[in-house]
Amino acid sequence: MNTVVTIDRIGAHVGAEVEVRGWLYNLRSSGALHFLLVRDGTGILQAVAVRADLPPEVFETAGAVSQESSIVVEGVVREDRRAPGGYEMTLRGLRVVQTAEPYPITPKEHGVEFLMDHRHLWLRSTRQWAIMRIRAEIERAMCDYLDDLGYLRVDTPILTPSACEGTTTLFETPYFDAKAYLAQSGQLYNEANAAAFGRVYSFGPTFRAEKSKTRRHLTEFWMLEPEAAYLDLDGYMALAEGFVAAVVQRVLERRRPELEILKRDLAPLEKIQPPFPRISYDQAVALLRDRGMAITWGEDFGGDEETVLSRLNDRPLFVHRYPAQCKAFYMQPDAERPEVVLGADLLAPEGYGEVVGGGERIHDRALLERRIDEMKLPRAEYAWYLDLRRYGSVPHSGFGIGIERTVAWICGLEHVRETIAFPRLINRLYP
Ligand code: 4AD
Ligand code: MG
Repeated sequence: MNTVVTIDRIGAHVGAEVEVRGWLYNLRSSGALHFLLVRDGTGILQAVAVRADLPPEVFETAGAVSQESSIVVEGVVREDRRAPGGYEMTLRGLRVVQTAEPYPITPKEHGVEFLMDHRHLWLRSTRQWAIMRIRAEIERAMCDYLDDLGYLRVDTPILTPSACEGTTTLFETPYFDAKAYLAQSGQLYNEANAAAFGRVYSFGPTFRAEKSKTRRHLTEFWMLEPEAAYLDLDGYMALAEGFVAAVVQRVLERRRPELEILKRDLAPLEKIQPPFPRISYDQAVALLRDRGMAITWGEDFGGDEETVLSRLNDRPLFVHRYPAQCKAFYMQPDAERPEVVLGADLLAPEGYGEVVGGGERIHDRALLERRIDEMKLPRAEYAWYLDLRRYGSVPHSGFGIGIERTVAWICGLEHVRETIAFPRLINRLYP
C-alpha cells in the first residue's frame, strides 16, 4: 500500500511511490506518453504515463480518461521545475472511480450566465480555486487581527424582529404566527455585546433585498463587524485602517501564487499601508462637482460617484460626516453640525468603492427615540436596544466590512459574483 498524499504536500515524498486521489483536470497525449493533470483540491499535479513502462491496459486507460473523471493515481514523485507545482509523478497505477460524462465546461470561452448556471462545476477551475483560497485567507486574517487586539467574537442572530439598515431591503419570513426579518447586519446586537464584553465582533451572513443589479451588490453577503465601547469616530477610523492594511499585507504574504493565477497587479496592493487619507462628505461633493458630476447635497453617493472618488488615491479613502438624512437612524450627529453624522465609509482604491461603513452610535436615549420616530420605525421592536441607553450607556463605535467587496478588490475582480462560492443575486438563486 502506498502512502496517500495531497498535492500541496507532495514535495515531502520525492523519490517515493505515493497515491493521489482526485479528478482529471486535463489530458494531453503524444503517442508514447500521456500527460494527466490531476487536481485534488490542494493543487494540480502532472502524472506522466510512459507506454514503455506500463502494462498496455493501464496505458490505454490513462489515454482515455474523460475530463473531471474521479481517479486515483499511483506513482513515483520527481522534482521538476517546469511542471506545475514543481513536482511530477511517473505513473505506475491508475484507478478510475467514476468516468465523467462529457463535461459542460471546456477550455473554450463560455458566457457568464452559462458559467453561473454551472457554478457547482465552475468552482473546480483554477481561477475559482485561487479566489476561494484568498477569500479564506482574508476571513482568517480579519479574525486573527481582532483576536490579537482582544476583541471577542460573539455570534449574532440571523432571524430578527427589526431592521438595522432601513426597511426597504428587508427580507421577511414567516415566524410561526408572527413575522421575522433576515438580519441586514449584526450591529444592534454587537452594541449589546460591546456593553457586556467591551470589544466584540460578529462575523456571519447578512441579507438585503437589493433590487439593484450592480457589480457590488449581492442579496446574501458576509460581513465582519467589530464594535467597541468608548471608541469614537477617529478611533474607529484608526482601527479600520490598521485592520484593512493588515489583511491586504497578509494576503500578499501568504497567497501570492493565487494572486498570480488571477494575474493581479501586486503594486497597488503593496501600497495599502496606513495612514489612509480622510475627507469630509462636503469635500467629496466639491471634488465630484469639479469633475462635472451633478450631485445634490444630502444624497448618498451611488456607484458612479464612489468609483470616481476611489480613483483619486492609491490608498483607501475615508469619507466622513455624511448628511444625517442619507444614513441610518442610529448614527451620532456631530455636536458642531447636527445635520451631519459622525460616520465614515471607507472606499477601496482602483474604482472598487465602499468596502467599510461605520461610525459612532447615538448613546443618548431621548435622541435615539426621536430618530426612531422620525424614521417611522416601530419603537416597541427596539425596546431592548433603547435599554442599552438606560443602563450604563457609553459613547461607542463600530464598523462593518463586506467580505465579497473586499475579496473582489484584493483579487482584482470585476464583479462580486465570483467572490463567494454560491452567489445570491436579484436574478439568481440557482444553483
Ligand atoms: O454600510 P453598511 O450598510 O453598514 C452596516 O450594515 C453597518 N450596520 C455595519 C456596522 O457598522 N456594524 O454595510 C457595511 C458593508 C458595506 O460597506 C459593504 O462592504 C457591505 O457591507 N455591503 C454589501 N456587500 C455586498 N452586497 C450588498 N448588498 C452589500 N451591502 C453592504
Ligand atoms: Mg454603507
